[in-house]
Amino acid sequence: MAEDLKIIQGSKAEQYRSLLPQLQGLLAGETDFVANMANTCAALKEQFGWLWVGFYLVKENELVLGPFQGPVACTRIQKARGVCGACWQQEKTIVVADVLAFPGHIACSSLSRSEIVIPLWQAGRVMGVLDVDSEKIADFDDTDRQYLEEIVRHVLATQD
Ligand code: SME
Repeated sequence: MAEDLKIIQGSKAEQYRSLLPQLQGLLAGETDFVANMANTCAALKEQFGWLWVGFYLVKENELVLGPFQGPVACTRIQKARGVCGACWQQEKTIVVADVLAFPGHIACSSLSRSEIVIPLWQAGRVMGVLDVDSEKIADFDDTDRQYLEEIVRHVLATQD
């Protein structure tokens, strides 16, 4: 299927509530993980206009860049390095209000000011992360955590 997303204005929660069923429709019946990660990045970037939205996947004990939308990014991240590596190591979502104040933050783009990274769980292990960067300081909160965690669970559930 190929359809335009309906992009809405409104509160953050309203934007997620509008996007979720559309994303579920977009992913319905498609079991290819790369395709579904790619469309998820595109849908999130289109609705929210963030600087960067993308996946990193664990491969041979590193995070390796996967599907994304936004400026070119670093390809490999070691465990515990940067916000992504910290998310992988700590196995929990990390919200960074000011990336300049996060020790070890990896600046793929100097425009990034705040960030949220969500772990992808599969068979009891973190197999990757979803990373979102914003040009605005303190752009992410518990609403983003809640909906983005739901979105990654849905993307993972579509895998064959
Ligand atoms: N800032 C991330 C690196 C990935 S880029 O932002 C796309 C980090 O500190 O892990």
